[in-house]
Amino acid sequence: MTSGSEPGGRPPHGAMSPDGEAERLVSGAADGVEEQMIEAALRPKKLDDFVGQERVREQLSLVLHSALRRGRTPDHVLLSGGPGLGKTTLAMIIAAELGQPLRISSGPAIERAGDLAAVLSTLAEGEVLFLDEIHRLARPAEEMLYMAMEDFRVDVVVGKGPGATAIPLDIAPFTLVGATTRAGMLPGPLRDRFGFVAHMDFYEPAELEIIVHRSARLLDVEIDDAAAAEVAGRSRGTPRIANRLLRRVRDYAEVRADGTITQESARAALALYEVDERGLDRLDRSVLESLMRKFGGGPVGLSTLAVSVGEEPETVEVVAEPFLVRQGLLARTPRGRIATPAAWAHLGLAQPPTAPMAGTLFALDEATEQPE
Ligand SMILES: Nc1ncnc2c1ncn2[C@@H]1O[C@H](COP(=O)(O)OP(=O)(O)O)[C@@H](O)[C@H]1O
Ligand SMILES: [Mg+2]
Repeated sequence: MTSGSEPGGRPPHGAMSPDGEAERLVSGAADGVEEQMIEAALRPKKLDDFVGQERVREQLSLVLHSALRRGRTPDHVLLSGGPGLGKTTLAMIIAAELGQPLRISSGPAIERAGDLAAVLSTLAEGEVLFLDEIHRLARPAEEMLYMAMEDFRVDVVVGKGPGATAIPLDIAPFTLVGATTRAGMLPGPLRDRFGFVAHMDFYEPAELEIIVHRSARLLDVEIDDAAAAEVAGRSRGTPRIANRLLRRVRDYAEVRADGTITQESARAALALYEVDERGLDRLDRSVLESLMRKFGGGPVGLSTLAVSVGEEPETVEVVAEPFLVRQGLLARTPRGRIATPAAWAHLGLAQPPTAPMAGTLFALDEATEQPE
């Protein structure tokens, strides 16, 4: 097995495209059916068991409980935040707290308005409909959803061409829970129809530690506090990554040690998988290293940088850079990418006096990146 690739012989970064993001150990996206099944087992089922996101949890608790007291369906809820932060988990918790069934679909799964009409017209009163990746809903379906959300009504079009007629159809009052990783891509009219919008943030290391301990309990493995902190600190603020690293560390502890996860075995396992203390993997580090060693810290254009690490520009831009920017290790400027002093320090390289100083170049991300 090549170190750095997942067991099962998946290719390392050389063969990776942005679509292959899920193949990375430190990707926020879920990696296939097996991971989805394990995740289902690790999902907290009640709001009280949901770790972190204090404000969202408290606000949501109020929305749900006041609706329950009034015997009404609660406002529609929009959950926005990066992959792996707990949107699907919260959607399931919302239904459970309301004591209602959950119907699950997603933007890409609904190709035509008729598909959505079929789902909406078969909802029972009070049911919760979860639409994942709602920003990818096709336009006609989106317009049907407006009316459904507001008036609990849809127009079903019968026939084609000039003879087509729209038949209005009442649907049962329901609660829509939409999830999106791209709140900015959601059309205003759709966003406005959600009574409650929850922004999910990255988690603090202490919160991830709690999640790691909880997951270890459910997976029936022993882990000590130092090891849990080690895993949490490398998880990029993302519960899904924490759970995935935990499983890799567990594998290691079972095969190479006595099964109990200690700080020592956690460190050794994460070193084997090339996930460093800050959660950077091989791709992240090779981008930084190339930027520093070959280009003196920049500024260098994206495509040149990508060629130097043997990747597509898109892979570098979409897969590696967002986390590096968020960590303050790399800055995007109009003249190209630069490594920050923190990046030189992280890789243990001496910053030459000619290296660009953070702040002397206008960083694009500060000006153009909208907070989600
Ligand atoms: N707040 C949390 N507390 C405990 N576990 C969490 C939390 N948020 C996410 N997880 C875990 O992380 C994994 C991914 O969460 P998920 O809800 O599928 O994320 P998303 O839908 O935002 O991509 C799940 O296995 C879930 O158990
Ligand atoms: Mg999800």
